Amino acid sequence: MKTVLITGATVNTGYGIAKKFASKNWNVVITGRDIDRVPAAAERLQNEYPDVTVLGYVLNAVRPDNTIDEEAVTNLFSDLDRKGLFVECLVLNAANLGIRQRIFENPLSDFINVLHTNVTLNYLLIETAARRMKEEKNGSVVFINSNTAYRAIPDRIAYCTSKGAQLSMMRALALDLGKYNIRVNAVLPGMIKTDRWESNYNDCKNAPSNFTPLGDIAEFADIADAVWYFAAHARNTTGAELAVDGGNMIQLYPIIPE
Ligand SMILES: NC(=O)c1ccc[n+]([C@@H]2O[C@H](COP(=O)([O-])OP(=O)(O)OC[C@H]3O[C@@H](n4cnc5c(N)ncnc54)[C@H](OP(=O)(O)O)[C@@H]3O)[C@@H](O)[C@H]2O)c1
Repeated sequence: MKTVLITGATVNTGYGIAKKFASKNWNVVITGRDIDRVPAAAERLQNEYPDVTVLGYVLNAVRPDNTIDEEAVTNLFSDLDRKGLFVECLVLNAANLGIRQRIFENPLSDFINVLHTNVTLNYLLIETAARRMKEEKNGSVVFINSNTAYRAIPDRIAYCTSKGAQLSMMRALALDLGKYNIRVNAVLPGMIKTDRWESNYNDCKNAPSNFTPLGDIAEFADIADAVWYFAAHARNTTGAELAVDGGNMIQLYPIIPE
């Protein structure tokens, strides 16, 4: 049975992606930073999909002083090795959203934390996973990126920067890892119906990113389907981007409905 590892997957999009893979009979490894939420989410998923192995790991590898806990990543993969699980697909979903970080107000450490969480830690995870994929001559890495890699939104400089950097890293990795049959691709969501969207519906419904040519924003399953395409079908595709944003990004400006 194949195994996927999804970061930041105790709630929202990551959990939706985990459900998709479990429903397709893949073993699922989820990570999160919270010592209570991780086992609870893993148990919920395991109960729903009793035929696959579900494992939850607490991974909190960007320390408060913005150094990276490399050992935590090594230990996670060593434990999976001991359990005989080879991560054939790595989904980099966890992100510091860097909300309301303002250029003249936030300390540099806030910017660095976003970059380390969204870029540096992902690089380390890929390096560690790709060592195993290289041995197997098989593997797939999928970034959950964002259409903000191309179109900026206010007070999110670090976040937009990190999403742009993810795409450059994706292409460089696709180039270097292709010879080992490791594919590296990115899904670019626009707005997603997360618990934040549900709880701030009145704010969200007026946000420009809500106005798409298709007239709707993404559900978790839409993002999960795109990840599944890269993981399970896209045999000859690497370094590619798949926007799942209702067409939001193709507009010069959103057409606000009357
Ligand atoms: N929501 C949207 O509208 C939207 C739009 C475009 C792109 N995206 C992208 O889609 C992915 C998932 O989005 P989402 O809204 O579903 O995510 P989310 O629930 O806000 O975050 C996903 C997980 O990332 C982890 N995380 C959050 N802040 C972190 C931090 N400072 N350091 C380390 N981990 C942190 C959290 O896991 P723990 O707390 O369990 O550690 C969280 O559950 C992200 O990569 C996001 O950039 C989302």
